[in-house]
Amino acid sequence: MNTLTATATSPATAPGPKGAPLVGSLGPWRRNTAEFLLGLQRDYGELVRMRLGPMTVHQATSPEAVRRVLVENNANYVRGPLYEQFGVVMGKGLLTTDGEFWRGHRRAVQPVFLKNAVADIVPNIVAATQEMLDEWEARAARDEPVDLMAEMLRLTLVTLSRSLFAYDIKPASHVLKRIVDDVVEVMFRRGTASEMLPSWLPTARNRKIAHIHQVFDEVVANVRENYARTGEGPLIALMEQAEDPATGQPWTDRQLRDELLTIYLAGHETTAVSLCWTLLSIANHPHVQEELDGEIDEVLGGGTPDADSAAGLTYTRMVVDESLRMYPPIWIFPRAAVGPDTLDGYDIEAGSSILLSPLASHHNPRHWDNPVAFDPYRFTPQAVRERPRMAYFPFGAGPRQCVGNSMALLELRIIVAMINQRFQLNLVPGDALRYGSPVISLRPLRDVMVRLRSREPKPKPKPGSVTPAASAAGGPHAASAAGEAPAADSSACPYGAGGA
Ligand code: HEM
Repeated sequence: MNTLTATATSPATAPGPKGAPLVGSLGPWRRNTAEFLLGLQRDYGELVRMRLGPMTVHQATSPEAVRRVLVENNANYVRGPLYEQFGVVMGKGLLTTDGEFWRGHRRAVQPVFLKNAVADIVPNIVAATQEMLDEWEARAARDEPVDLMAEMLRLTLVTLSRSLFAYDIKPASHVLKRIVDDVVEVMFRRGTASEMLPSWLPTARNRKIAHIHQVFDEVVANVRENYARTGEGPLIALMEQAEDPATGQPWTDRQLRDELLTIYLAGHETTAVSLCWTLLSIANHPHVQEELDGEIDEVLGGGTPDADSAAGLTYTRMVVDESLRMYPPIWIFPRAAVGPDTLDGYDIEAGSSILLSPLASHHNPRHWDNPVAFDPYRFTPQAVRERPRMAYFPFGAGPRQCVGNSMALLELRIIVAMINQRFQLNLVPGDALRYGSPVISLRPLRDVMVRLRSREPKPKPKPGSVTPAASAAGGPHAASAAGEAPAADSSACPYGAGGA
C-alpha cells in the first residue's frame, strides 16, 4: 500500500490517491480508466477512496465488500448519479431505474430468462450461427480476413431479436451497428458544452439522440406489428401483457420502447464482446485450442448442438468463464449509498458513490494466482467451490444480477463450440490483443481481423477411450488440483490496458 500519498484522515477513512485540487483523480481516470482502477487496487488495496470532480467515490474489490453492496445491504445502494448517463438514451428501463418501478418491470420480463425457458432459444442460436459460418466458408476459401467484433455484434443482435421478439433484424443489422456506436458516443462523450444545452436545441448531440430514438421507434413498431400478426415472440408477449403496478394500466408505448431498447442494447453488445475475447484467447493459447477441439469432437462430432449436448460442453464453459474473468464486458458499474455504511471496516458516507469493478476484482491477487494468465482450470467445480463466491461476478449479483445471464452463458457456449468446430481462427499479425480505455464495455483496442482456416471435425471417439475433455467433464482436473494445470502462456497473454 502506498502510504505516502494516502489521504487517510481518520482510521476509518479508506486510503486513496490525493488527486489534484478541484478535479481530484479525474486526470488519470480519463487517461486510461482501466489501468487507473487496476493501479488503485495494486497501490492502496481493496477499498480505495478518491475524488472524481465533486464526487467522493470508493472502489470496492474485496468479495466481502462486493457481497455487502450487492446482496446483504443492497437496499442501501441505488443506481445513483454515475448511472444517469444511460438514461439519456435508454430512458426508464430495467437498467436505469430503482424501487417499485424496477421491481414491476423485472417481475414482468423475468419468466423468459429463467434457465428452463432459455433452453427454447437453442435452435435460434444454432440457425443464426450456421448462417454466419456458411458465409465464412466462402471468405475462408478466398483467404479473406473477417472483422471479428463486427461479426459477433451482428450475430448476437440477430440471435437476441429472433429469440426474444421473433423478429428478424438481420436486414437492418448494419444500420444498427452504426447506431450502437452513436449510443456509446452520446452517453459517454461528456463534459462538452452541447451536453448542457436544452434537448430541443438542434445541436449535433441532440440530433444524434433524436436519430437513435427514431431508429428504435421503427424497430419497436416492427416488433409490435409482427407480434400483432403472428402472436410470436416470448418477451414481446410478456411486455404487451404487462401492467404498470402504479396505475394498473398496460405499459405505455414509451415504457415499452425504453424496455425494448434496454434489452437490445444490454443484451447483444456484452455477449459480442465476450465472444470476441473468448475466441481470441483460444486462438492465442494452443493448448486451450487443442483441448477444446477434443471436447467439441467428442461431444458434438460433426453434428449441431442441442440443449443436452450444450450442457455436455464442460471445458468450453470453463474457457468462457475464464474469458469472462479476464475480460469482463461490464468491467465497472456504480452504486450510490443512500445511508451511511461500513465496508471492509471503513466508513462510507451517505451520498458517496461506490465503484464495483469486476475487472479489478477478477485480478485481485488475494484470490487469483498469476491473474494475468489465461487458465480455464480456475473454473473446475472444485476450484469454484474453494473460492469466495464474490471474487467473481461478471454478471453482477443479488437482486440486480443480470437478467440475461443464463441466456448469455448458453449462447456463448454454443457459438464458441460451433465456430471452433468448423474453423480455426488466426489473428492477422500486428493486431494488438489489448483493451483500450473502455467506456461502456471492455472492447479490444482496435478492430480485430482474423483469418479462417476450415477444420474437419474428427469422428466421435469410441466409447471407453479417455480424452482430455472427458477428464475435465468428469470433475476437477487432477493435474490442476496438484498444481499442474497446463502452463498458461502469460507471455502471450493479452493483458494490459493500452491507451486508446
Ligand atoms: C456476456 C454477456 C453479459 C454480461 C457480461 C452482462 C453483465 C451485466 C451486469 C454486470 C449487470 C449488472 C449491472 C448492475 O448491477 O449495475 C447486468 C444487468 C443487466 N443485463 Fe446483462 N450482461 C450480459 C448479457 C445480457 C443479456 C443477454 C441480456 C438480455 C437479453 C442482458 C440484460 C441485462 C439487463 C436488462 C440488466 C439490468 C437488470 C436489472 O437491474 O434488473 N444482459 N448485465
